[in-house]
This record gives sequence, C-alpha cells and structure tokens, in this order.
Amino acid sequence: MVETKNIHSEKILIIDFGSQVTQLIARRVREIGVYCELMPWDCDVQFMKDFNPNGIILSGGPESTTEAGSPRAPEWVFEANVPVLGICYGLQTMSMQLGGKVEGSTHREFGYAAMDLVEACPLFDGLSDHDGQKKLDVWMSHGDKVTIIPEGFKVAGKTDTCPYAAIYNEEKQYYGVQFHPEVTHTKQGAEFLRRFVIDICKLHGLWSPSAIIEDAVKTIKEQVGDSKVLLGLSGGVDSSVTALLLHKAIGSNLTCVFVDNGLLRLNEGQQVKDMFEGFGLNIVYADAEDRFLDALKGKSDPEDKRKAIGHTFIDVFADEARKLQGVDYLAQGTIYPDVIESAASKTGKAHVIKSHHNVGGLPDDLKFKLVEPLRELFKDEVRRIGVELGLPVKMVQRHPFPGPGLGVRVLGEIKKEYLELLRKADDIFMQELNSSGWYDKVSQAFTVFLPVKSVGVMGDGRRYDYVVSLRAVQTVDFMTAKWAELPYDLLGKVSNRIINEVNGISRVCYDISGKPPSTVEWE
Ligand code: XMP
Repeated sequence: MVETKNIHSEKILIIDFGSQVTQLIARRVREIGVYCELMPWDCDVQFMKDFNPNGIILSGGPESTTEAGSPRAPEWVFEANVPVLGICYGLQTMSMQLGGKVEGSTHREFGYAAMDLVEACPLFDGLSDHDGQKKLDVWMSHGDKVTIIPEGFKVAGKTDTCPYAAIYNEEKQYYGVQFHPEVTHTKQGAEFLRRFVIDICKLHGLWSPSAIIEDAVKTIKEQVGDSKVLLGLSGGVDSSVTALLLHKAIGSNLTCVFVDNGLLRLNEGQQVKDMFEGFGLNIVYADAEDRFLDALKGKSDPEDKRKAIGHTFIDVFADEARKLQGVDYLAQGTIYPDVIESAASKTGKAHVIKSHHNVGGLPDDLKFKLVEPLRELFKDEVRRIGVELGLPVKMVQRHPFPGPGLGVRVLGEIKKEYLELLRKADDIFMQELNSSGWYDKVSQAFTVFLPVKSVGVMGDGRRYDYVVSLRAVQTVDFMTAKWAELPYDLLGKVSNRIINEVNGISRVCYDISGKPPSTVEWE
C-alpha cells in the first residue's frame, strides 16, 4: 500500500502586517494545494519556529516602514533558511531589514501598472500579458517605495513609477514584489504564487479536498475515540459539512439536533430532513416554534429579539442534550476566519485562541469538550469538501442566512401571521432569482416584512394590506456592500407575483441602500 503523505507536512507561514487582503494570500496558497497559516508579525517567535514552515510570505500592511516603531519581520525569518516572499509592505520591510532603503512618497500608486521584466527571474520567466513583450499587468496599491535594494539582490521588474517593482536574491531565495499577486487584478498572480510555493519552496501540493477529508476523519477519530458527540445542525454549509465529516468518522456516535425555531424559510425544515435522509445521520428534530414565538411576544427591539432567540435556542438545545445519555463532546462548525478574527479581537495573536467559540451560555450541568473539524478551513474549502462529501452544489452555494432567521426580517414584534406572509413572498423572490440566473450573481438576497399597511386596488375593491421590501446585495466580505442592480423586468415580475399570489401583501419595494451607511439586514 502506498503511504499517504501527511497534508500538514508541507506548509507556508504567512506573516500578517495587517493588509485587508492577507486572508486572500492564504486562500491562494491553499488553492495551490499547500497548507498555510496566518500569524501576526508580533506573534511569539518560538510559535513561528515551531510551525517549521517550508517557506514564508510577508504580507502587505497599512503602515509605513519609514515611521519609528513600525512593524518588522522577526529576524528569525532571515535565519530560517527557507525561501521568503515579501509582498508590498513585506517587500519594503525585507529590503530595509537587509540593508536597503525605503522612502515615503507624496504620490500614491493605486491600480493597474504594466511591469517590464528586466532580468530572468524564476518567478516570472516566460510569462507575458503583452504579445511578444516582456511585460506583465500587475495591481499596485502603495505610497512608499524601495529606493535602494539590499546587497545581493537583482531587479526583476520595474514600472514607470516604481524602479523596484520586483526584486530577488537567487542565492538566498528571497523574492519581493511591490504589487499584489493575491488579487485577481494581477493577471498572472496565481501563477507567480504557484511558482513561489511549488517550484521555489519545492513542495508538491498535498492539500486537496479528498486529502483534507481523510485527514479530518483521522483526526476526529483520534480526538473523540468511542465517545458520543452532539452537534447543532442548522442546515447551513458549516454545520452540514461538520455533520458529514463526523458521521464519516464516528457513524452513529454522532447525534445532530435540528431546532425548528419557527423563524425558518418556507419548507426549510423539510428540505434539511430530505437532504440528510440519504446520509443515514441520527437527527433529532426539535419543533420549538411555540417556545420561540412565546419568548418573542411583546418584543420589538432588534437586540432584545436577538437575545430572546439566542437564549431560547440554548434552552431548547440543552433540553435535547439532557435527553441524550453519555455525550462527551459538542461539535461546532467554527471555520478559520472565525479563529483568526476572534484571536485578533481578543489578543491580536491568532494562535492563542485554541479553545475559542464555545457555544456560549450552555448551562453548567452540560460540560462538553469541543470538537471543531473545520477550524483550519476557509469557507471556500468547506464548500469544496462539502461537495466531495456528497452535498448538493446548490446547497453549498447558498447565500448566508442569519442565526435569528426571519426573526430579524419581520420588523418589530413578530407574529405568526407576518412570518407566514414573509415566507411566501420570500419564496417567490428566490424562485425568480433562481430561474433568471441572478441568485448566483448576488451575495445575499431576501425579503423583509414591514408591519405597516398601505392601500391598494384589487378588482373593484380597495385593499389595505402589508408591505414587503426586497433586498439583494453584492459584496466580497459583507463589511461593505452595494445594492444589486437587478433588472427592472425581474423586479416587476417578482412584485406582480407577490401581490397576486400572497393574499395580505399589497405593495412591494426594492431597497436601494448601500452598506455603509445602511446594513445588509434591516434590523
Ligand atoms: P449586516 O446586517 O450586519 O449583515 O450588514 C452582515 C451579514 O451578517 C448577517 N447577520 C447575522 N448573522 N446573526 C447571524 O448569524 C445575526 O444576528 C446577524 N445579523 C446580520 C447578515 O445576514 C449578513 O450576511
């Protein structure tokens, strides 16, 4: 039998100087097939050493190396005897630390630049974006620039405004680029990164969906052994993939609890049942609609509603957990960006938070150990392994749905009647988005119920009925978002159908607010 290689035996360390796109570097490296971790530049050096990387990437960052006290790469980076790639700020600090010079500039370069290739450098050899010319289209975003390169370095690329757009020291295997290869605007960015990770760091690319699954299954088995594991299954991508991985590893020792909080979309509970039927999972369905609606009675403040929903979830989940005997572990679908973010917000250091993300608030009699099989994975990796595990592509590509569900999409106090109207209207919007092909072109779309009545005319009579608003946004990270320019004929069709088919709604609006200043959700 051929021995399968440990997928963590090849790894790249990404030292984060705080750029907005550092996570993109990590995602690109993973796409190339190599495991990587992000660590902040001021993280404990021993921790970096223990990681024992095969190569190091220094990220971009918002600061200026010319300012006193600005971040530096730990000196260990240049003693570790592995290839180093500096990107933007990473290039500048590397240049400075190795004896070169960086100067501030009043001119900020932002956007495309054509880089002339001046020396045969292994990162770029043979590449061209301009027929017959040694030129590459790259994406720049910087103010400062390197003005003297360190001894032993050669220039690989330059632009009209940036004489050292790419430099390298072949003997030491140090490379630096002023542009951003991780963004798709740099056309050959993925290829430069592949050359660095695979050719220069001499790695093979062991990180693939099937290998990740195999590794996760092995790790889960080692961690939980014969113990029983409990998982809250929402039907979202993360909990669904967590469920399938655990099921593959421990079979019937996994019990999933699906809480129907009465705030789900049309037929959602049934769809989750149908989806998992074929997988043979142990699923307990807790029909808790009445408990949630009771808890929400009289509450109209969004934060009060969120708290009531959160507390009721814990209560229902705890009741179900108590009914099951001998459960030692609680599984959670925590993913890598949650790990990085919670670490950054707590301590600024990504690695110190190994035990973060407890389902906050479970009562004291329920003390579980945690198993979090997705905590190394980015969302796109979770989706890929979901498909590999047999989840329908449509399901893994679904828009995000907030935990409090329709509870924050019926404005003000929740009533069952409002939820029912909203479910029908939202289902029509989703059907039309899907059939027009727009579902996949927007990042999130949904309908909001406004508990106000407006007048309408139906046949001979006047109708005094409720209003809904459609919302569709496009965004990369949900921190900012633009409203989607859905075609008028699509909006018109959705509006006609809702008013004709949903008895109780007489007016449909389209939300044309961006984030900021508005948020994606209305509450
Ligand atoms: P906002 O409204 O903050 O939404 O612009 C950004 C993203 O977060 C989702 N969201 C939530 N998700 N619990 C969740 O699990 C919540 O309370 C919540 N509020 C907003 C929202 O759907 C969007 O994807």
